[in-house]
Amino acid sequence: MKILLLGAGGREHALAWKISQSSILDELFIAPGNAGTRQYGKNVSLSPIDFDGIKQFVLENNIDMVVVGPEEPLVLGIYDYFQEDSSIRHCAIIGPSKEGAKLEGSKNYAKEFMARHRIPTAKYACFTASSLDEGILYLRSMKAPYVLKADGLAAGKGVLIIEDLESAEKELKSMLENERFGEASKKVVIEQFLDGIELSVFVMTDGESFKLLPEAKDYKRIFEGNQGENTGGMGAVSPVPFADAAFMDKVHNQIIVPTVKGLISERIEYKGFIFFGLINVKGDPYVIEYNCRMGDPETEVVIPRLKSDILDLFEGIASNTLSERDIQFIDKSTATVMMVSGGYPNEYEKGLPIYGINNVVDSIVFHAGTSSDGPQVLTNGGRVLSITSYGKNIEAAVEKCYDSISKISFEKAYYRKDIGRDLIK
Ligand code: AMP
Ligand code: GLY
Repeated sequence: MKILLLGAGGREHALAWKISQSSILDELFIAPGNAGTRQYGKNVSLSPIDFDGIKQFVLENNIDMVVVGPEEPLVLGIYDYFQEDSSIRHCAIIGPSKEGAKLEGSKNYAKEFMARHRIPTAKYACFTASSLDEGILYLRSMKAPYVLKADGLAAGKGVLIIEDLESAEKELKSMLENERFGEASKKVVIEQFLDGIELSVFVMTDGESFKLLPEAKDYKRIFEGNQGENTGGMGAVSPVPFADAAFMDKVHNQIIVPTVKGLISERIEYKGFIFFGLINVKGDPYVIEYNCRMGDPETEVVIPRLKSDILDLFEGIASNTLSERDIQFIDKSTATVMMVSGGYPNEYEKGLPIYGINNVVDSIVFHAGTSSDGPQVLTNGGRVLSITSYGKNIEAAVEKCYDSISKISFEKAYYRKDIGRDLIK
């Protein structure tokens, strides 16, 4: 098969690494990719949202399948763009339709979907500028802390958790009246705060059946002890010890099955990954959010635990035969620790040389934000490298990550030293 993978982060490097091991791969292209993905295929300088450019590339290179890493092309409707064009319809897209991607693209849409299918989630209401007064009354009827969510995509920054009512009212006003998050905060979802531990659960689906992937926990805040600003993710581990059989049974019965059945009953085409952002509240799972793609950095711990040929599974998704495919996992723990540029998630420098990647032998170095100048790898993003290791348990996997990180350097590199620590007994 000839595959075009869209995206440029650690998630896409991990997917490229796995796809390159497939026995049915003929050629892999990554658009735009990074300095890491070029080890596994050809990087193509095309934006993942340049649909016309992607179409032309698919036709010129006889691409059989486009694997979509990030959410943006999905929310913008790349699946539908291919479906509606008879010259490229034959090329499979791994990712949902525009309607399916709304599960991530609109918080209100996701909440309404969950309500229709009785999927456990926080109590909520949705407001616009014209219902601001009702929104304020609704806030006053809730208990602190207050959770405000911009309805649309806001690059992971659209959720505010606020301790006092006065600031929450101010923020609601600024989101709705001043469109603090642009178009994304024209609608705002206010929801009940859920107190528990978060985890990420993933399935792949062909729109009829699904396969469960290993669960993961990511570490979102910039500083140790979950302090400071939210980031794209500073590290992750898999499996998650508190996701035991009893808990995962509830996730299966109360969340995954009703979601997949809901998509079927509403005739929403969905051939790709569903990412369930869950919270465990006293043993019961609730959905915090849906994403229409894999997580980053979760992919960097989930995909290395997949033993089966990923293209065989993707082919199952494309041909509605996923239920006939075998899926197996590696019975080891994985951890990934993200090395970021000093200053991230705010201002940071790019283009700094990275040293020592080739000295790492015990871990996989997934590139998250890199570019290259000949053989020299340079920083090219806030999140720079995602160092993944296997271990007999989380502790052993994490320890190997830190050992490998000690061999890599770039100016102002920063990483969290407590990944997985809360889960180690
Ligand atoms: P989201 O973008 O919806 O995943 O929200 C970002 C983060 O905000 C989540 O990972 C949670 O840590 C937190 N969060 C969102 N909704 C809630 C909620 N209802 N209760 C508690 N924490 C929440
Ligand atoms: N790690 C969270 C996300 O990918 O959205």
